[in-house]
Amino acid sequence: MIYTTNKAIVRIPGENFGQGITTSDLGKPNYHLALEQHHTYCESLKECGLELIVLEPDLDFPDSTFVEDTAIVTERCAIITRPGDKRRRGEEERIKKELSGHRKIEAIYEPGTVDGGDILRVKEHFYIGLSARTNSEGVNQLGDILRKYAYSSSMVQIDKMLHLKSGVNFLDQNNLVIWEELKHLPAFKGFNIISVISGEKYAANCLLINNRVLLPAGFPDIKEKLEARKYQVLELDVSEFEKMDGGLTCLSIRF
Ligand code: GLY
Repeated sequence: MIYTTNKAIVRIPGENFGQGITTSDLGKPNYHLALEQHHTYCESLKECGLELIVLEPDLDFPDSTFVEDTAIVTERCAIITRPGDKRRRGEEERIKKELSGHRKIEAIYEPGTVDGGDILRVKEHFYIGLSARTNSEGVNQLGDILRKYAYSSSMVQIDKMLHLKSGVNFLDQNNLVIWEELKHLPAFKGFNIISVISGEKYAANCLLINNRVLLPAGFPDIKEKLEARKYQVLELDVSEFEKMDGGLTCLSIRF
């Protein structure tokens, strides 16, 4: 069964957004353009049927617009993470306040670290990326919490990308969008693979919401593949977030 979402938390980027963490060499983001792109993203989530909880910019944390890293929310609980990069620690406390009215709260504790971007849900199973941000203690803690709520999980070691969902995302009907070079990973055997060619890697970070696929603008090969599978694709320009190593999934917590 696919877990359908009807709400999302987003946070408007702060004016110091360009001082966040990044490995990209695409240059400094334009703040006003980022605000416009964020607004369009929010409108698109609403168009897809989500009710938004819009948080004000948080200047204490330049990366805090990437809310997804701070919590994993299921229909049974919300798991507050402990972000892997020290500069982001504290963002999760503010999200906990928002989620505590909606779900029973669980949390990852020191020495565990987990970034929500490393968590890929496929029906009742969660793939957890072991990454520079999510450590093995975090994987174990998260696995234990998920088991308590009758979910299964497994670890996928990643080294070529920031977060697991930078390179692989689940749609529905067993369809997995994944970087071509990762498609033979044993963890993803048995899926219908929609492969993302090497020139379009950023577009693997796409998002299915209630039958529509949000896709970064400017990636024609993957767009054609998705449309050939009858997905309704909504292209969004998220260039300013790409400059800060962020993408469509990490800009919201859907639940
Ligand atoms: N800039 C997003 C992150 O590195 O977590």
